[in-house]
Amino acid sequence: MRAIEIRNKYLNFFKNHGHTIIPSAPLIPENDPSVLFNTAGMQPLVPYLLGAKHPLGTRLVDYQKCVRTNDIDEVGDNRHLTYFEMLGNWSLGDYFKEESIQMSFEFLTKELQIPVEKLSVTVFAGDEDCPRDELAAECWKKAGILDGHIYYYGKEDNWWIAGEEGPCGPDTEMFYDTGKEKCGLNCQPSCDCGKYVEIWNNVFMEYFKDKDGKYTKLSQKNVDTGLGLERVTMLLQGKETPFDTELFKPVMDKLQELQRIDFIESRRIVAEHLRSSMMIIADGGKPSNVDRGYVLRRLIRRMVRHINKLQINLDELSTLIDVNVESLKELYPELEDKKVEIKETILEEKNKFIKTIANGEKEFIKEMNKAKEQGKNTIDGKVAFKLYDTYGFPPEITKELANENNMEVDMNKFEELFKVHQEKSRQGSEQKFKGGLAEQNEMTISYHTATHLLNAALKIVLGPDTHQRGSNITVERMRFDFNCDHKMTDEEKKQTEDLINKWIQEGLQVTSEEMKKEEAVKSGAECMFIEKYPEVVTVYSIGTISKELCGGPHVKNTSELGKFKIKKEEASSAGIRRIKAVLEK
Ligand code: SER
Repeated sequence: MRAIEIRNKYLNFFKNHGHTIIPSAPLIPENDPSVLFNTAGMQPLVPYLLGAKHPLGTRLVDYQKCVRTNDIDEVGDNRHLTYFEMLGNWSLGDYFKEESIQMSFEFLTKELQIPVEKLSVTVFAGDEDCPRDELAAECWKKAGILDGHIYYYGKEDNWWIAGEEGPCGPDTEMFYDTGKEKCGLNCQPSCDCGKYVEIWNNVFMEYFKDKDGKYTKLSQKNVDTGLGLERVTMLLQGKETPFDTELFKPVMDKLQELQRIDFIESRRIVAEHLRSSMMIIADGGKPSNVDRGYVLRRLIRRMVRHINKLQINLDELSTLIDVNVESLKELYPELEDKKVEIKETILEEKNKFIKTIANGEKEFIKEMNKAKEQGKNTIDGKVAFKLYDTYGFPPEITKELANENNMEVDMNKFEELFKVHQEKSRQGSEQKFKGGLAEQNEMTISYHTATHLLNAALKIVLGPDTHQRGSNITVERMRFDFNCDHKMTDEEKKQTEDLINKWIQEGLQVTSEEMKKEEAVKSGAECMFIEKYPEVVTVYSIGTISKELCGGPHVKNTSELGKFKIKKEEASSAGIRRIKAVLEK
């Protein structure tokens, strides 16, 4: 059975059991800054699991695009994936254990026609937070699971929560027996020798775990299930790995055809990371140095490195993207719609990386040889840090290169240096963004706030594309550079002064809050050089008229500023004008 058929069977089966089909949410969560990507089907549904009424009812089914990056370094073996599809069905205070287990059993044995001997299940063994799940075990027996195929495990195996806090509960997992020999007398579903593969997880979400680790009962009993499409496809097709299914086979074959050196691990890494990157870009992701952008950057760069390792010309990336669009467009039509964007993004990132890689690898080899000559088998963390700091060489690649050469990297030392570096650059940017405020007194602080007002006023008078290009403050005056293609007219200058004086008279509150840089940018906060700011930034707001990333300090209320007056407006450089202004107190 092909993946698309499994997906369709799933959606239809649950539709026939009273569920409404809902669309997959984008990979990038819409209203949840706490996670980088959707990592499970339940994530976009959290408000409804907590009791909000879902507009489409109490029984839902969907397929959800997911990215999990905790296992990124494992990709290349025969099972780990960063992108995967989760089929899920939900009861929002509707049916509970019995019906959920009955439906899962029916779907697996009737729709997918898995012989019952091949199925084993696990249920929660019970602890001080929640009793042993005898009911789930009873339901499985009643449904038809064979004697001796039910196992009881504790929280580490049979309890589900996304992260540290949130809706959670005991779960019951379904395992498929691949028919391999038992690895030992005690071989059971919890063992990861590969005989048993987990295919589906039904979570009975009755509890909420708070930050302090306290469990309380939810207002409603929910069911949240997740079935891994890639795994089930692989098992039903009798394949050893997902890379042997139609989801990866075309691109794996193409890689084999193009490669000059044969590395199966590298082929898998390229195939997997390419699919993942394409899905992230199709849902709006862009490579960058922070958060999800950095995950995407890492995926693309690691893929590029393994294309190199296979000695495939990097120009073939475009062909590989074409192959993937063709083979995956039935499942994900968005890949075809966004093909141009996907190509541009991946190729541009590749070009950036080629430059970085060339320099970094050369340096790495030099350092490695040096270490070897000294009889060491560990690369110093200082070296890894230098590669990162001077050459922009990602630490995970240093680690990978070292491992390929049977060497280790002192990552503890690297982390230590990295932290010091982060702290320094944080302090540095705070310093920098005091913007010439070496002498902080009442006057310079007032000018600093007036600078924000002028920045906001010019956007109204000259147009929203007007931005700060420079600033300098002394106790006597403020100087402000901005982009503008003409000498300001007297009328424009007057309008600017009037606006600022109006805001001063209105006595607007100046407030500040700390937030993640990315959120600050999203909220529309103004800033000059976004890349120079630390991860967590301070955003200063003046009433509702101005919002800027800034290190401060500022006055508390605009009423403290006196009267604003423009003294001079002149050219500063091509396309840049300069205003000198004073506050008369
Ligand atoms: N949320 C559960 C999981 O991710 C079931 O979907 O396994």
